[in-house]
Amino acid sequence: MGYITTTFIVLVLIVTVIGMYVNGENGEFEDVGGGAPMAKTEQEALYSAIQGFVGNWWNGSDLYPDPCGWTPIQGVSCDLYDGLWYVTGLNIGSIHDNSLSCTSNPEFRPDLFQLTHVKSLAFFDCFHTPPVVIPSDNWTEFSGSLESLEFRSNPGLTGQIPATISQLHKLQSLVVIGNGFSGGLPATIGNLTRLKRLVLSGNGFSGEIGDNYGYLSELLIMDLSRNSLSGSIPLTFGGLTSLLKLDLSQNQLQGKIPYEISNLKNLTLLDLSNNNISGGLTKSIQEMSSLKELVLSRNPIGGDLMNIEWQNLITLMVLDLSSTRLTGGVPQTISKMKKLRFLGLNDNYLSGNLTPKLAELSELSSLYVYRNNLTGKLGFDRVFYGKMGRRFGAWNNSNLCFPVDLVTTSLGPFGVNACQDVTSSEVSVHDSGSKLGTFDSGYVASYSFSRYKFDRIWCVFTVVIFLDFVM
Ligand SMILES: *[C@@H]1O[C@H](CO)[C@@H](O)[C@H](O)[C@H]1NC(C)=O
Ligand SMILES: *[C@@H]1O[C@H](CO)[C@@H](O)[C@H](O)[C@H]1NC(C)=O
Ligand SMILES: *[C@@H]1O[C@H](CO)[C@@H](O)[C@H](O)[C@H]1NC(C)=O
Ligand SMILES: *[C@@H]1O[C@H](CO)[C@@H](O)[C@H](O)[C@H]1NC(C)=O
Ligand SMILES: *[C@@H]1O[C@H](CO)[C@@H](O)[C@H](O)[C@H]1NC(C)=O
Ligand SMILES: *[C@@H]1O[C@H](CO)[C@@H](O)[C@H](O)[C@H]1NC(C)=O
Ligand SMILES: *[C@@H]1O[C@H](CO)[C@@H](O)[C@H](O)[C@H]1NC(C)=O
Repeated sequence: MGYITTTFIVLVLIVTVIGMYVNGENGEFEDVGGGAPMAKTEQEALYSAIQGFVGNWWNGSDLYPDPCGWTPIQGVSCDLYDGLWYVTGLNIGSIHDNSLSCTSNPEFRPDLFQLTHVKSLAFFDCFHTPPVVIPSDNWTEFSGSLESLEFRSNPGLTGQIPATISQLHKLQSLVVIGNGFSGGLPATIGNLTRLKRLVLSGNGFSGEIGDNYGYLSELLIMDLSRNSLSGSIPLTFGGLTSLLKLDLSQNQLQGKIPYEISNLKNLTLLDLSNNNISGGLTKSIQEMSSLKELVLSRNPIGGDLMNIEWQNLITLMVLDLSSTRLTGGVPQTISKMKKLRFLGLNDNYLSGNLTPKLAELSELSSLYVYRNNLTGKLGFDRVFYGKMGRRFGAWNNSNLCFPVDLVTTSLGPFGVNACQDVTSSEVSVHDSGSKLGTFDSGYVASYSFSRYKFDRIWCVFTVVIFLDFVM
């Protein structure tokens, strides 16, 4: 093949690959190529904004002369509007091979707010010491564009979230995890009526949750866990009718579980664990028929299990009511929740017999009833004990025993006395250890927010470099 032919083929290949990339970003099929221009103001604002976070050594015009075209910056995405490139995504911090790692004293420069087409803005592991407060001016510049705002693992971001973010009328996702924010939750978040995801977990937020958080009727995920929130759960939460996941765990919330919560017909996760919720289990729970995980552990809830129609919760897989000061018996209707995999009733004041019907739950892999006041002879068969092993925890129920014929087969449940020999001191008793450690990953609600798609850019580069080499 002649040199010119080879060059031509290579050029066609490059243009095709670049074209694929551009089309992928735009959802169009016109071959606009990498030749589109970028307004100088946009380009300089981008360089300066990044330099503020990454450090003055970073010279954008040197390193990335055509940041939306031939020399893309990992962490920046662009789109075409009226034939010009604009920045639509900016990811700051070392994540997913991102090139934009932060300097030790990053700053928000005003230039950031000139990038008025940005839809997605994310900061990961960027701010440490010295502490930085997010500027409250100029967020209104993003009001027509920003759909996703994320601050993750930035312990150096302190102070409050600026109330002005309520001007982000298009915001659909606000994720603020593991930063140093404190003070009250901004009441104005209740004005972000487009929000679908609100995650403010693992910060130092305190004070009450505003009633207007219940007006976010399009919300699918609300996670305010691991803060110091107090007061009660707003009754307005009954208005969050689209909600799929509600996690308010590890706060200091008190009062009752509001009856209005029964309006949340699509809820799959309700986690109120590690709070100060009291007032007994409301019957509203039985109306949330989509629930898969109900975690209320470590609350002084009190009351008993008898008045709930447990058989209504046909999709429930995780029921954790440990350390909730429950009294009374364990109703047989619990054995009608056929999807149940995890049942935690330990550390309560439950009494009476443990129904052997629980063995009918074919999916059940963990059953914890230790440290209660259960009595009588356990009625499970060998198959059940064999299947459950240590994941059946019934120790520290002083009047509970198991049939003596199991002693010889060493299938007897851990830490429980044989019925005919209750005075034996040979019975070993273990502490519960980590219950959750033995449970499969389905227990922990996990959210995946990965929206970093740089692989394709590297693909393009690999091809170009390879072809360069071949030529
Ligand atoms: C970046 O480099 C160019 C050329 O090397 C230089 O003219 C410019 O002043 C530098 N910019 C910054 C911000 O250092
Ligand atoms: C807000 O924008 C104005 C005008 O661009 C600028 O003077 C000011 O410093 C900006 N404030 C912040 C906090 O970025
Ligand atoms: C929030 O919305 C309320 C009405 O629901 C309005 O009165 C208030 O001014 C708004 N606040 C902000 C900061 O936009
Ligand atoms: C609940 O889920 C169903 C099916 O996924 C959906 O059709 C319905 O609109 C949802 N309800 C609300 C209030 O979002
Ligand atoms: C828990 O709530 C009760 C009221 O129900 C209150 O008296 C008590 O002080 C709260 N405890 C904590 C640790 O906040
Ligand atoms: C446990 O049950 C026995 C009767 O079976 C009762 O005497 C005792 O008070 C109960 N203990 C607790 C802590 O509820
Ligand atoms: C209950 O557990 C404790 C340790 O947590 C242990 O000291 C005690 O002996 C146990 N009691 C019974 C009756 O197994």
